[in-house]
Amino acid sequence: MPQTWIGRAGMALSVVLLLAAMGMAGWWYSSQPGDRLQAVDTGGQVPIGGPFQLVDQDGQTVTEADFSDRYMLIYFGFTYCPDVCPAALWEMTQALDMLEEADPDKAEKVVPIFITVDPERDDVAAMKSYVSHFHPRMLGLTGTTEQVAQAAREYRAYYKRVDDASASTYLMDHSSFIYFMNPAGDFVTSFTHQTPPEEMFSELEKLVKG
Ligand code: NI
Repeated sequence: MPQTWIGRAGMALSVVLLLAAMGMAGWWYSSQPGDRLQAVDTGGQVPIGGPFQLVDQDGQTVTEADFSDRYMLIYFGFTYCPDVCPAALWEMTQALDMLEEADPDKAEKVVPIFITVDPERDDVAAMKSYVSHFHPRMLGLTGTTEQVAQAAREYRAYYKRVDDASASTYLMDHSSFIYFMNPAGDFVTSFTHQTPPEEMFSELEKLVKG
């Protein structure tokens, strides 16, 4: 399927961009099963994450400063995504449910965030409806084309509109990393839509300070 091929090409491109970004900052990247990003700080600046200003599913303006006392699990995607985005968001939901059961105080410190890369279709109402299928605390963020582009740039997230001439519609090709950020706004680690929820849960339990 062309979409699958394009998706792989996009992923490869995003990995190349991440490599370049991390290389410049003196970080180390290694491809792990499931394309996990493994970053080791060698003294450079944190290359992933930064300021953003978006709007949540209730129409409230949200910036990175709103999470200064929280950990963030951030995923970029779009609500029309047939499979990869739902898998990633469901994984985040399940992992947080497990953490909630094991350690409610830790779970409460983690905010699951879905940022659309398709603001043209994913307006506030569309995001509200969509995130209601996942974790009850999940935020669905959208904004202007430029606001979304700014957020994606900060996180080195790749996305590109792919038109489907035969169906007079389009899909968004996009990278698929779930970024885990600490309360200081620093990148800690990442997961993908293929990370088993149990694995995400056990890492969160280790990484979140009680
Ligand atoms: Ni997707």
